[in-house]
Amino acid sequence: MKTLTINNLNFNYGNKKVLKNISLQFQEKKVIGIMGMNGCGKSTLLKNIINFLHPITGEVIFKSDSLEKNIINLSPNERAKIFGFIPQKSQLVDGFSVEEVITMGKVSQLKNMWKGFSNQDYDDINKQLSRFKIEKFKYTDINKLSGGEQQRVFLARALVNNPDILLLDEPTSALDIHYSIEIMNIIKKIVKENSLICLIVIHDLNLASLFCDEVVFMKNGEIFYHNDINTLFKEDILEEIYNFKCDILEKNGIKYIIPKI
Ligand SMILES: Nc1ncnc2c1ncn2[C@@H]1O[C@H](COP(=O)(O)OP(=O)(O)O)[C@@H](O)[C@H]1O
Ligand SMILES: [Mg+2]
Repeated sequence: MKTLTINNLNFNYGNKKVLKNISLQFQEKKVIGIMGMNGCGKSTLLKNIINFLHPITGEVIFKSDSLEKNIINLSPNERAKIFGFIPQKSQLVDGFSVEEVITMGKVSQLKNMWKGFSNQDYDDINKQLSRFKIEKFKYTDINKLSGGEQQRVFLARALVNNPDILLLDEPTSALDIHYSIEIMNIIKKIVKENSLICLIVIHDLNLASLFCDEVVFMKNGEIFYHNDINTLFKEDILEEIYNFKCDILEKNGIKYIIPKI
């Protein structure tokens, strides 16, 4: 069983406290929505978990059957093996093909700088191209793809090292409903089949209701709630977190949020 445990994590930007005493535990095979209003600290939390930002206090422990590691003590290359990450704003650089973008995910795992990538590396890259049905775009400039296709490429790059933990910061925010559902279906399937831990920052409450197993509700840098959707998707809790009123309808066991205006 894989687990990710965050203990008493605090983080400031300058003098501003942005993450306050965060303690959380997550398990494999779960899609966990990280939710809350703009500016509450969701992206900052993901960047602290992967140690792109360094917390003032706290530890981030990844455990599997064979190992236990404090992420904060690992080298960047070791972390790149454990995590797949899609940042909120994935930088698009002109002139890179889809194959090159996915290959960037492999750079941290290069065993020998002079020999370059191994056959295994190229197999991993080709496996991602076929898994996401993007072989036909292999040599296409990433900027020439639609938003939905680009997001599949970024997901392929995040998965190319077979990580244990996926951190996805608003992967559906620029997508229409068709591509949002497509990408969430892919994510959910991969998380279950490969026993990943998946934290996903997501704003759309109904999409979260359809696809997330659990939700973390943040407010002003604090964790207010962490539980399953059924427990947390209640009118009063949503009003507390998002400051709006809603009705909740239930169909086939799924809750749908209808805002009151
Ligand atoms: N690089 C930065 N320097 C200073 N303050 C920042 C920086 N990035 C984010 N912040 C501030 O930290 C808070 C949390 O930001 P962020 O984690 O991006 O929120 P969210 O992802 O929940 O919208 C916000 O008040 C934001 O303005
Ligand atoms: Mg953010």
